[in-house]
Amino acid sequence: MLDCIVLTGAAGRLGRALRPALAASCKELRLLDQSPLAAGHANETAFQLDLNDQAVLAGALAGANAVVHFAGYPREADWPTLLAANVAGVASLWEAARVAGVGRILYASSNHAVGMYPRSEKLSQGALPGPDSRYGVTKVFMESLASLYAAKHGLRGFGIRIGHCAPQPSDARMLSHWIHPEDLSALVQVGLRAEYENEYVYGVSNNSRSWWSNDRAEALGYRPAHSADAFIDSLQAQTSASPVAEHFQGGSFAAAEFDNPRFRAD
Ligand SMILES: NC(=O)c1ccc[n+]([C@@H]2O[C@H](COP(=O)([O-])OP(=O)(O)OC[C@H]3O[C@@H](n4cnc5c(N)ncnc54)[C@H](O)[C@@H]3O)[C@@H](O)[C@H]2O)c1
Repeated sequence: MLDCIVLTGAAGRLGRALRPALAASCKELRLLDQSPLAAGHANETAFQLDLNDQAVLAGALAGANAVVHFAGYPREADWPTLLAANVAGVASLWEAARVAGVGRILYASSNHAVGMYPRSEKLSQGALPGPDSRYGVTKVFMESLASLYAAKHGLRGFGIRIGHCAPQPSDARMLSHWIHPEDLSALVQVGLRAEYENEYVYGVSNNSRSWWSNDRAEALGYRPAHSADAFIDSLQAQTSASPVAEHFQGGSFAAAEFDNPRFRAD
């Protein structure tokens, strides 16, 4: 059992889903968020802070073994919004973690870091970035920052390119990239315990239509218990009306603001 885990974005949708398993897997779980939040389990402590506040952050990270970083702006937005939450806040967190001597950071990257790949292409974890939005670019920034800190400072990085996390899939695209919250929680547990330096894995359940090969996650011990396959019959007709969205893995994120004159749909 780890002594201390810090969970950022603890008041958010995914942070709330991860909390119970994290609280059970360490002696002390520190919950960080800029939004109000309250400690629930006996071993939880709550810190309401902005990741950009280095002084407060330093205190919250002192003595922590691992950071599970799920704070951030979770969708497309203008640059000022994304830069504050997903770039400046991320740079601030990694630097504070390095100074505090944190051993590893697991973090919420996104399918939108590779959303401009066509759905016809199966990606390995080594796939070059292909962001589909300003939001996706900020996730690529975080992956690059993790790589830098792992190589230069030995701060282990575990980037999870999360598909869509929800109790069940709700459209045809999710037949490929959906992940059940229990599988995400299991993947986080893998990231807390496995031996690695810097990894990028896919946050996806055991879906036969997945666009991603998740060999590395499986080699480290990930065994997803859920699959979107049971929903194929009921959801496969629920596609969008946009040929651009249907062509690219990123769906509507790829189609937004899209005006590439050389694009030809399949
Ligand atoms: N929900 C999904 O299916 C999904 C898919 C792919 C990636 N992700 C990523 O997972 C993470 C969590 O997503 P979510 O759906 O729980 O989002 P969410 O908006 O519900 O939660 C994010 C939390 O981060 C906090 N936050 C934002 N900026 C902060 C800052 N500067 N300092 C402190 N706290 C800050 C917010 O207050 C919020 O509670 C995000 O990084 C998102 O991009 C989510």
